[in-house]
Amino acid sequence: MFDKSPTLFPIKDRYAFLSHCGIAPLYSGGLGKMTEVAQAQCLTGALVFGRYDPILDGLRDAAAQLLKTTPDNLAFVKNTTEGIGLIAAGYPFEPGDQVISYVHEYPANHYPWKLQERRGVELVLLPDCDSEGRRHTPCDESLTRSVRPTFRPVAWSMGDLEQRVTPRTRIVALSHVQFASGFAADLKSLADFCSAREIDLVVDAAQSLGVLPIEPDEWNIAAVVSSGWKWLMGPIGCGLLYTSKNFRAKLQPVLVGAETMRQGTDYLDHTWNPFDSAKRFEYSTSPIALAAALEACIREAPLRYGVEAIRGEIFRLQDVFLNAVDRTRFRPVFAPEEGRSPILSLIVSGDANALRRLLLKESVITTERGGYLRIAPHFYNTDEEMLRAAGLFA
Ligand SMILES: Cc1ncc(COP(=O)(O)O)c(C=O)c1O
Repeated sequence: MFDKSPTLFPIKDRYAFLSHCGIAPLYSGGLGKMTEVAQAQCLTGALVFGRYDPILDGLRDAAAQLLKTTPDNLAFVKNTTEGIGLIAAGYPFEPGDQVISYVHEYPANHYPWKLQERRGVELVLLPDCDSEGRRHTPCDESLTRSVRPTFRPVAWSMGDLEQRVTPRTRIVALSHVQFASGFAADLKSLADFCSAREIDLVVDAAQSLGVLPIEPDEWNIAAVVSSGWKWLMGPIGCGLLYTSKNFRAKLQPVLVGAETMRQGTDYLDHTWNPFDSAKRFEYSTSPIALAAALEACIREAPLRYGVEAIRGEIFRLQDVFLNAVDRTRFRPVFAPEEGRSPILSLIVSGDANALRRLLLKESVITTERGGYLRIAPHFYNTDEEMLRAAGLFA
C-alpha cells in the first residue's frame, strides 16, 4: 500500500534513516516543487509573485484537510517558536495570570511563555513523573553508566495538572509528543479538561503533525503549532500555525506588515484593516518555495495514505525492531501497551550518544536526547531496515 521506493526517498540508497523526530530527509516531491518555484523566480523575477497567493492558499487548504478544519484557521510560519511566540506575546494576559507547561518541554514551547514573566505572568511547570505517576525516575543503574541529566525526562501527569490549575490559569501549553521521552499526551482528554475550565490549550505538534490524528475544531483546541521538517518531511524553515476563530479574536497583533492587511499590494494605503483569518499572522513576504514544497509533502503523504494508516505502519515498524532487539539491554521508556508515539525512546546500556555514533558508522541514522536513544521510523522505512538496525544493537 505504501510507496517506499528509493525514487521517492533517495536517502534509502545510503542510509537507514530512523530519525524523523529530528531533521527529516526532504521528501522528493517537495524538493521538486521547491526547485520549480525557485527556478520561476530565477527566470522571471517579479513575475513569480503571481504565484504568491495561490501557493499559500494551496498550503492552507492542504493543512486544513490534515487538521479537519477550514483554511482560514491556518497560517504559514517559519518554525514552531515563531507561532508560539506570536500567541504568547499577543495573548491579553493580566499580571498574576498563569500559564501551565511541563519542566522538560522543548525550548520552542518554553521561552515564549517565560518571556511573558515581564508582563507579570507566572509560568508554572509540571514536574516530571513516570507512567505510574511516580516522581522523577532515577537512572536505572543496571542499564546505564554515564547518563545526563541525573533524572531523565519522562512525562507529566493529569493529576499534577489538576492540582496546579487555579482561577488565574489562562493557558495550558504542552507538546502532543514529548521530544526526548516520546511520551504522547491523550490530546482529546487534555482538551476536554481545558475546555471544561475555560482554559486555552496550546499544542506544540512538532512531533506528531502528519502521523498522529489531531482535530482541533472537534476537540476544542485553541492553537496547534508545528515545524514542517520532521514528520511532514518538508524543507527546513517552514511550519504551520492553527488558531480557532475565537482564540484568534483574543490575540493582539505582534508582527504586522503588508500581508496582515486586506488591501494587500496597495502599499500606499495604510488603513488599519487586518484579515480576520489566520493569514494575519503571515504579516509579510513568505518563502513561497518552501510553502509549495510543504503543500506537496502534506498532499502526497498524510493526505494520500491517511494519518491513521501512517501511524499504524510506524508502530508496526517499531515492533519489528523491538521484537528483534535484545530487550534485556535496550528498554523502551514506554511499553507499547502504554500509549505510544512515533518516537521510540530507548534506555540503553552504556552511553546512548556513543551508540548513536556507532550506528551512524554503519549508515543507520538515529538521535540521542536526554540520555535516550531515539528510534523514529516513518512509513517508507522497511522491515529490512529495522532488522538491520536491531542487529547492530548486539
Ligand atoms: C516538541 C518540539 N517542538 C518544536 C521543535 C522545533 O522547534 P522550532 O520549530 O522552533 O525549530 C522540536 C524540535 O525538535 C520539538 O521536538
